[in-house]
Amino acid sequence: MPTNRQVVWQVLRQHVTSEVLLKHCLAVEIAMRAYAAKFGEDVDYWGAVGLLHDVDFDKFPHDHPHHAREILTAHGYDEQFITDVESHARDWASPRTRLQKTLLALDELTGFIIACALVRPDKNLDNLEVKSVLKKMKDKGFARAVNRETLTSGATEMEVDLNEHIEFVTKALAAAVKSPMYQELPLVG
Ligand SMILES: [Fe+2]
Repeated sequence: MPTNRQVVWQVLRQHVTSEVLLKHCLAVEIAMRAYAAKFGEDVDYWGAVGLLHDVDFDKFPHDHPHHAREILTAHGYDEQFITDVESHARDWASPRTRLQKTLLALDELTGFIIACALVRPDKNLDNLEVKSVLKKMKDKGFARAVNRETLTSGATEMEVDLNEHIEFVTKALAAAVKSPMYQELPLVG
């Protein structure tokens, strides 16, 4: 089962061509890796789940994530990995594990934070403050597609403070965008 970062990236590239979607997957990966490190979990495994969580979205946008299983099985991923990916379906019936709760919590938040950075004059994550993100969450006209309830409930489910969650993810994204690993498709700029 490939969890080597380079291999996982190649798997994703085989199934996703949309640049917007690739950037979303990268952002979720970054934050998953950061939380895995914080929680003392397997960073490569959590990162691989983050990177591949939308692997079927390009080809099956209306039946996502229900085609992840066939794609991931063909690449040798095991039942647990596939379940972890499938678990971010909004109507997932089983209780979520910590990894699964984290994935769900990051799915919308990463993009929202990047959107907040992109409307800044400097388009920079470094100076983005939590209070600015919270303010944008109250602005209904901003990033309308992002369900605010999902942002707050994600943190609640993870049992983390929303402010700390936003700060942690913002810092993780800000650090990663400077890393050589994330220069192929710049997330901001
Ligand atoms: Fe996603």
